[in-house]
Amino acid sequence: MQSMDRDIDHILVSEEQLQDKVAALGEQISRDYQGRDLLLVSILKGSVVFMADLMRAIKIPCGIDFMVVSSYGGANTESTGLVKIVKDLDADLTGKDVLIVEDILDTGITLSHLLPVLRMRNPNSVRLCTILSKPSRRKADIEPDYLGFEVPDEFVVGYGLDFDEKYRNLPYVGVLKPEIYSK
Ligand code: PRP
Ligand code: MN
Ligand code: MG
Repeated sequence: MQSMDRDIDHILVSEEQLQDKVAALGEQISRDYQGRDLLLVSILKGSVVFMADLMRAIKIPCGIDFMVVSSYGGANTESTGLVKIVKDLDADLTGKDVLIVEDILDTGITLSHLLPVLRMRNPNSVRLCTILSKPSRRKADIEPDYLGFEVPDEFVVGYGLDFDEKYRNLPYVGVLKPEIYSK
């Protein structure tokens, strides 16, 4: 068996650190949204792992929905600055307290396009929960309401994050060896 671990230079956030943080975020969100009409909105594909963990750490009733967005054209390591809705939500957002669930807030360009679209649909509130953030890369004026970990500007994969659609299923967040993405 050729394990993916061999492509990882070092671990940035361990499985245990992720578990502890998700539990804490779940508790905080459960308190903050007590008695509200909470809808978790997962932005696919990256958020799939965090979404599955976070929803089980939330102890109050909530709905879930999914959205697929993509950048227009270009190489897939850099955002092109334009965002297209490939699969829209099923839910009517009227009166809902929407919590967007993301794996990483990088430049913020994806969310800067998505937030106004969702806010136009008459939700009661829209906030953002992301497990990772790269503040040094920010181009849009977006900050998370709930954050797991700040990470440096390195090539991070795992816990939903991919390189060329691979490594999403690593249970931890790691930094890819340069020889993997430069070949
Ligand atoms: C990644 C990540 C975020 C977005 C963040 O998704 O999952 O959704 O980029 O980047 P930004 O803050 O610079 O806009 P990606 O477009 O790679 O799609 P994926 O989730 O399917 O991997
Ligand atoms: Mn994504
Ligand atoms: Mg990606």
